[in-house]
Amino acid sequence: MSYVFHRNPKHDYPTAVAGEGPYLIDASGKRYLDGSCGAAVSCLGHGDREVTEAIKAQLDRIAFAHSSFFTNEPMEALAEDLIAHAPPGMARVYFVSGGSEAMEAALKLARQYFVEIGEPERRHVIARRQSYHGNTLGALATGGNAWRRKQFEPLLFAATHVSPCYAYRGKWPGETKERYGQRLRAELEAEITRLGPRSVIAFVAETVVGATLGAVPPVPGYFRGIRELCDRHGILLILDEVMCGMGRTGTLYACEQEGIAPDLVAIAKGLGAGYQPIGALLAHAKIVDAIGRGSGFFQHGHTYIGHPVACAAALAVQRALRERNLIAAVRELGSALETRLRARFAEHPHVGDIRGRGLFWGLELVADRATKQPFEPALRLNAKIKQLALEDGLLCYPMGGTIDGARGDHVLVAPPFIVRDAHLDELTEKLARAIDAAIAASAAAPAAEPID
Ligand SMILES: Cc1ncc(COP(=O)(O)O)c(C=O)c1O
Repeated sequence: MSYVFHRNPKHDYPTAVAGEGPYLIDASGKRYLDGSCGAAVSCLGHGDREVTEAIKAQLDRIAFAHSSFFTNEPMEALAEDLIAHAPPGMARVYFVSGGSEAMEAALKLARQYFVEIGEPERRHVIARRQSYHGNTLGALATGGNAWRRKQFEPLLFAATHVSPCYAYRGKWPGETKERYGQRLRAELEAEITRLGPRSVIAFVAETVVGATLGAVPPVPGYFRGIRELCDRHGILLILDEVMCGMGRTGTLYACEQEGIAPDLVAIAKGLGAGYQPIGALLAHAKIVDAIGRGSGFFQHGHTYIGHPVACAAALAVQRALRERNLIAAVRELGSALETRLRARFAEHPHVGDIRGRGLFWGLELVADRATKQPFEPALRLNAKIKQLALEDGLLCYPMGGTIDGARGDHVLVAPPFIVRDAHLDELTEKLARAIDAAIAASAAAPAAEPID
């Protein structure tokens, strides 16, 4: 009997009691290889002494001082550290406690920016279908995942959505990646024109799409085209790097590989690596300056902004990334993981696409590779894979609704940056077993009830 309102109250969750490097350990002593860092969170693995010592040391100094009265040392040091390594033009960091809060702050700051500079008529947000920006109402309204939005539609503000950059299903046969990217840019431009150019606040996108599509990187030139379009129309570009940022794709920010910089970028997950709940919004100098010249303050705030313990943890994580050369390790380990995934799944009859960057990879599962026909949603293939992998001692992150919120299945893998080759072997082997067993079980019978 549990009094916790669990995500799925019918499900019997094992109790996590310990963590050692890339493994989590439950109360029965069973070990699980954390092949997805939960949901791309625990990039340093579990039980990192330097981070836990930094947290304890901060607690011995000061645990909390409300940000409407005080600043604090770890918050100042973390902001300086983040700005020193941020995409060009970023000037200030607004701290929050997670990804959804970072996206809410981005939306409000973007709107306030236009009020401050005398363009209050701007009120529209354009995002992409099959995106996820968080579960709070503003972030959910911005996200384009039909399933997550459905029952809350009456509460959501009217963001509009264009196509994601999803080459496996979106690119026409014979079309080059570059032409596909240009077609998507033309679609966005048509949407801006339809809404009225001076009425759009921002275009919002995950640089590499995470949970809803399964580690889908953009095609070459896509974001350069989007950046140019936003500049032409005076629209802010908000990148959501909550999942793909902080080294996950092999650079601190995923947008570095696109050769562009956003106006606002949201980060979370890997920022605190799970040691503390923390997120942040980095804002371009032009936005900070506009607020400074105008009303002088950002009309927003939460109780735990810049929590000293959370900031101390995130600062220790940032230092660990650099001092242990972990982002270079992500690139190296990422190519080792890609090699294994391709060796094991490139010819698999039910793996239609293998995509990703760094230590951020997705496999899209199909009933038929030639037609890209997905499995029947009623089979709940993704939920079965999650459960079977868990039983076998592997955490991975499968999701359904890949294509349109209802149809399609994928599995996301995102191991910690401290894994070794043997862990990548274990991950690939257990993932293959779970996928094959789930497909065999689906051929026999659909899942009777939700198990995710
Ligand atoms: C891209 C992206 N944005 C926002 C969020 C929301 O973050 P949080 O769950 O910390 O509120 C997530 C969480 O998975 C995410 O993947």
